[in-house]
Amino acid sequence: MSSFDGKTIWIIGASEGLGRALAHALGQQGASLILSARNLERLSELCSELPDARAIRCDVTELDSVRSAVAEAGHVDGLVYNAGAYDPMRSAEWDTEASLRMSDVNYLGALRVLGETVPGFVRAGQGEVTLIGSLAGYHGLPAAIGYGASKAALISLAETMRHDLAGTGVTVRIVNPGFIKTRLTEKNGFKMPMLMTPEDAADRVVKAMSRRRFRTDFPAPFSWFIRLIDCLPDLLVYRGK
Ligand SMILES: NC(=O)c1ccc[n+]([C@@H]2O[C@H](COP(=O)([O-])OP(=O)(O)OC[C@H]3O[C@@H](n4cnc5c(N)ncnc54)[C@H](OP(=O)(O)O)[C@@H]3O)[C@@H](O)[C@H]2O)c1
Repeated sequence: MSSFDGKTIWIIGASEGLGRALAHALGQQGASLILSARNLERLSELCSELPDARAIRCDVTELDSVRSAVAEAGHVDGLVYNAGAYDPMRSAEWDTEASLRMSDVNYLGALRVLGETVPGFVRAGQGEVTLIGSLAGYHGLPAAIGYGASKAALISLAETMRHDLAGTGVTVRIVNPGFIKTRLTEKNGFKMPMLMTPEDAADRVVKAMSRRRFRTDFPAPFSWFIRLIDCLPDLLVYRGK
């Protein structure tokens, strides 16, 4: 028996990539799943591959959609905020609409979903919140206009919740993956170090969800390298620029 047996877990951003692989991994561990995203067809297909799962369409950029999904979901033991949007973008090629879309899905969507669920968790004295951030949230990296800042905001949000929710019975954790081979990273024209399969990344997320640890960064040593950048002087980080 696993720690997910009989637990109802809501994955937001479950139709593709990491979320889809996570649904399979949690399903194998006995979790009862609620799967959300915009593409209901892909979600229904996924539900048919799993022993105990139902789909609820939800667009995290629309508060009404989030509210009706929360009402339809009913009681959940835990939620995973995995919805994400990404377009590589340099400052000189700024696409206003794309940068706003990334912020809307990656960060503001989390505010909508958590604002509609966390107070209920606190009232019940239980609930688990897992936020899927990114190693790109730790430092301003090149070609990450919109994306990097939205993930930094998500990490900051998790840190605040970690302070505020202590002693309430509600657990919050942030999981920051490195590169995963999904439709999202297909847009990258560079060689991605330590690229993982969605299945490998999902196994690591499940492991993180089984522990009480607040923060999980992977894969090492790439994650150590990213965090080290913050300790280096600007002179070294931006040398020659
Ligand atoms: N791939 C990587 O290298 C990598 C690295 C670090 C972190 N991450 C993070 O991991 C998460 C999953 O990314 P992925 O690589 O698996 O990307 P993906 O394959 O594009 O999956 C993204 C998921 O988010 C959902 N989504 C997008 N916009 C949404 C919206 N407005 N409302 C509800 N759901 C929405 C998508 O479903 P619909 O399109 O059906 O709505 C899809 O299920 C993201 O948060 C991403 O930032 C990815």
